[in-house]
Parts: sequence; structure tokens; C-alpha cells
Amino acid sequence: VKRTPFIAGNWKMNLDHLQSIAFVQKLAWSLADAKHDYADAEVAVFPPFTDLRSVQTLIAADSLPLAYGAQDLSAHDSGAYTGEVSGAFLAALDCAYVIIGHSERRTYHHETDAIVNAKVLAAQRHGLVPVVCVGETAEDLERFGASAVPVAQLRTALEGVDGAKGLVVAYEPVWAIGSGQAATPEQAEKVAAALREVIAEVLGDDVAQATRILYGGSVKAANIASFLREPNVDGALVGGASLDIDEFSSIARFK
Ligand code: G3H
Repeated sequence: VKRTPFIAGNWKMNLDHLQSIAFVQKLAWSLADAKHDYADAEVAVFPPFTDLRSVQTLIAADSLPLAYGAQDLSAHDSGAYTGEVSGAFLAALDCAYVIIGHSERRTYHHETDAIVNAKVLAAQRHGLVPVVCVGETAEDLERFGASAVPVAQLRTALEGVDGAKGLVVAYEPVWAIGSGQAATPEQAEKVAAALREVIAEVLGDDVAQATRILYGGSVKAANIASFLREPNVDGALVGGASLDIDEFSSIARFK
């Protein structure tokens, strides 16, 4: 099965409104300019909620070759949930994707595997493709090895999921996020392979083969190609390096 590589930029709470607009325009130009060597990847940006409308308008106006999505969503569809943003609202902004269960949400907002699962189901109810993040902390790594925690997180996240509706999984070892210390491609491959087995168990082999599994954690232009050479790593979820237009466009042209 050939899976289209997926290069995702998670801006987190960075880039103000004007920077977001300039970034999307420049990124689109840069990818268009680079057509001759631009590998056949899908490139997506994940701005803060408040910039999704502008990004939508820009991309639609010029039919830019970029996908986009939100960094989180509510597990609920509507109602008295002050401060939350529902999948319905994201769908109305034509978001294709939504990141769910990022380690920063798990750590700072106490998102459990059960909450992550509820959010994955909410995303699917609204036609959004969830980008489900899993990963072990340094302490987990020491105690249980690399795969055990992400495998358990993914198994719970996938309960009741409809495999036909699409899914992206991001393996992000917490110790590699923003640390400059990326996992080795071999480490990423090993966990990605274990995660693909979980998908096969829960959703069947066809879904497992079609699902893109990303690596995230200190990805940059200098190391992206080494990750993409691994058979089970189908792209990257990029944080810090996604804020630099030149760096991120080089990552998107990972050859
Ligand atoms: O969502 C992105 C990840 O948290 C990776 O962040 O590329 O800054 O290490 P990073």
C-alpha cells in the first residue's frame, strides 16, 4: 500500500494573526515554486482556533495546496461548555483534520485516554479526520520501554472508532518534544510498527495499511528524510520547526 506522506505543522500557541496569514501565503508559494522537486506529500498546518477562518479564506481563495485543521476540539457537540469548540464548528470552517490528545493537552489539561477517545469519536461524528497523538514520557521509557504506553493509549483512543472514516496517528515521545533530542529513526519505526499492529487488531488490516503514522519530536529539515525512509513512518508532526517558513518548506520537500 502506498501512503501519501503527511507533513503537519502544529503551531501550538505561536504565530499571531498577521504572522499566520503571511506564513500560509509564503508556504504555498514556496511549495509551488519547488514543484520540480516537491515530493508528493500532503502538507497541513494547525493554527490556533482564532486563525482558522483566515486560513480557510486564504486557502480557498487561491486554491492553495494546503490542508489545515485545529489543535483540539470538544468531546461534546454543543451546549453549555464555556470556552470549548465543537467539531461542528470546525467542520463549518472546512477543517479536514483535528489534533487530539497532544501530550501538552494530556499534561496541562489532564486529558485521559478516555477523554481522548471521546474526542476522536466527536471528530468522526463531524467528518473530521483525527490526528491521534500518543507517546511515552522519559519515565515511561525507563520503566516500560518505548512501545507499551503509546500502544495502550492508542488502543483506548480507538474504541468504537469507524475505520472507514479515516485516521492519522502521531507517535510523539514526550521526551523528544521541543528538546532538540529526536528519537532515532529506528526507535520511531519500532513504535510505529507496534502502533500499526494495534490498528490492525482493532480496525482490521486494510485500515492499518491505509493509516498514516507520523513521528513527532524535534523533527527538522536535517532529519526528516531519515524518518521517512522507515517503512512504518509516513510523515511528521512538527512543532518548533513548523514556525520557520524556510525550515518548514524544506521539511515538506523532504527528499
Ligand atoms: O506537535 C508537535 C510536537 O509536539 C513536536 O514539537 O517539533 O517542537 O519537538 P517539536
